[in-house]
Amino acid sequence: MAAVPEESKLSYNFLGRSGLKVANICLGTVTFGNAGLQGSRPGQATEEYSHQVLDRYVQWGGNFLDTADVYSQGVSEKFIGSWLTKQSRDQVVVATKVRGNMPYGVGLSRRHIVQSIKNSLERLQTDYVDLYQMHKWDDGTPIEETLRTFDDLVRCGKVRYVGASNVLGWQLQKIACTTEKLGMNPFISLQQQYSLVCRESEFEPFQVCKTEGLGVLPWSPLKGGLLSGKYTRESPPTTGRLGWRREKDAGSWNTVQENDQMWAIMDAVRDIANTHGKSMAQVSLRWLLQKDVVPSVIIGATTLSQLDDNLGAASGWTLSSEEMARLDEVSEPRQVYPFDLWKHNKSRRNPFQSSYLVSNTN
Ligand SMILES: NC(=O)c1ccc[n+]([C@@H]2O[C@H](COP(=O)([O-])OP(=O)(O)OC[C@H]3O[C@@H](n4cnc5c(N)ncnc54)[C@H](OP(=O)(O)O)[C@@H]3O)[C@@H](O)[C@H]2O)c1
Repeated sequence: MAAVPEESKLSYNFLGRSGLKVANICLGTVTFGNAGLQGSRPGQATEEYSHQVLDRYVQWGGNFLDTADVYSQGVSEKFIGSWLTKQSRDQVVVATKVRGNMPYGVGLSRRHIVQSIKNSLERLQTDYVDLYQMHKWDDGTPIEETLRTFDDLVRCGKVRYVGASNVLGWQLQKIACTTEKLGMNPFISLQQQYSLVCRESEFEPFQVCKTEGLGVLPWSPLKGGLLSGKYTRESPPTTGRLGWRREKDAGSWNTVQENDQMWAIMDAVRDIANTHGKSMAQVSLRWLLQKDVVPSVIIGATTLSQLDDNLGAASGWTLSSEEMARLDEVSEPRQVYPFDLWKHNKSRRNPFQSSYLVSNTN
């Protein structure tokens, strides 16, 4: 594959209010391996292909990998583990997750977390994970039990930092307040679905991130490939991951096809992409990269050429403030009560307080 020009290589940001620096694009690895939930999905990579993807990501200057115990029931972690043995471990930031269904248990109890980190470390062939994330909230366990266990893992060196994923605003605030009250290590990141077509987390969870110092790590930044522009209203997906989903659930494409705002977003992205000579995927990712709460975007790719395309969003060019404003406006999420009341309150907006919408950095 072609050499990556220096000016296009990934840049590095602090992950939330921590001293950890990560590449501004993180490599998502849900496509590694072919078991469990992922088993029947198209585009799942073999070990050899997964290693090619990892090698290429490193050539772009990447250092940040995201996996989970449940991805292909541990196979994603295993493929990363066999690759890690050929790397310098301290050059790679490995993030994984706990909470989902595994043969040995589920949830965020002390018992399950302690068992899970042991198994993840074995599969990853390492003695520590850089970022350990709760995959989602667990109603079955007191949050103090989960947070104390996470804190113990940091103190005994199995984990360097802790983070959350897929939570509500009040849940994240409770996590932040509880760790502070009990003198425990704070969460430094929130991994949440975030894209031009999924912005609802801006209303609450990202406000907590801003005030409590957590970095947002967007997942599904292209909404499963939709924002690459390869499908149109008239030509629904027949192949790939979205084609597979459409086949499984015949109604899934109807909600996309009838969503006028989604197609208006696509038109704006296409326009801006043509102006810059960039792909629609790159513009969609660039919009996320220029959000002030986002230190790194988690990308997915089923081929090396998709990987190269997506990594081309990272550096060497920017969207203008007018382009950011146009994309913000066309993709504005519907403001349900009581968020809709805030916009009538402009005279009480203080730039030293958190604003109710995520802002742009340019
Ligand atoms: N915390 C969570 O609950 C959670 C949930 C989901 C994902 N994640 C993380 O986020 C990562 C990314 O999520 P995602 O895979 O859903 O991301 P995504 O970017 O929304 O979708 C990726 C898919 O879009 C298509 N695609 C990607 N780049 C493309 C390009 N340049 N041109 C055309 N098509 C392209 C590919 O599918 P086709 O080739 O089949 O079209 C690819 O597999 C995962 O690997 C995982 O690490 C976390």
